[in-house]
Amino acid sequence: MKSKGLLWLTFGALSLVGAACAFNSTGETIPADWEQTSYLERGHYLVNYLGHCAGCHTPLGPNGQSDMSLFLSGVPAKFAGAKAGPPQIAGFAGPRGARVYAKNLTPDSETGIGRWTEDQFVHTFKHGIRPDGIKYAVSPMEWNVYANMKEEDVRAMYRYLRTVKPISNKAPANIPPK
Ligand code: HEC
Repeated sequence: MKSKGLLWLTFGALSLVGAACAFNSTGETIPADWEQTSYLERGHYLVNYLGHCAGCHTPLGPNGQSDMSLFLSGVPAKFAGAKAGPPQIAGFAGPRGARVYAKNLTPDSETGIGRWTEDQFVHTFKHGIRPDGIKYAVSPMEWNVYANMKEEDVRAMYRYLRTVKPISNKAPANIPPK
């Protein structure tokens, strides 16, 4: 009996929440404090929980999981030329011998994106064009999809990426199709 009462209580509470949403004329259901979260928190959320950037940009450890001590440092330089293995070792194979390698996203100034300005990062994300003018084709890094991100979200990711540990690793250069 007692549990039945509880059930109805829960139901009642849920209906109240539902009613509150229904009467909200803007249809807004996002918590009011959402916009208040800082750029860094938002960048952390986008990079780690939504974008899953580490899935491609972090090397694998011996257990086959992302090696977090090498977080976001790209395909290790020592694997350049490897023909077999997961994308974190051999890159992604493309048409006619092409191969693309996830790059170093840490703030290392020589091998990562340490020298990129926020605007350069935004430009790369929005257009798939690196600061040095190299235009990336559509690849597993789905530039055509990322281009749809709101600029402020891209800026949030950049600001978060500035806070990760700089790691020196020159990821292998992409091999264009023959
Ligand atoms: C499916 C794998 C994959 C995922 C997921 C992914 N990337 Fe990439 N990323 C790549 C590859 C491969 C490249 C190399 C560029 C190319 O060939 O298009 C790249 C390149 C980049 C570059 C250009 C770096 C340079 O030095 O040229 C940036 C910046 C970048 N990724 C950021 C991100 C961020 C931020 C996320 C998460 C929101 C992310 N990537 C998610 C695979 C991925």
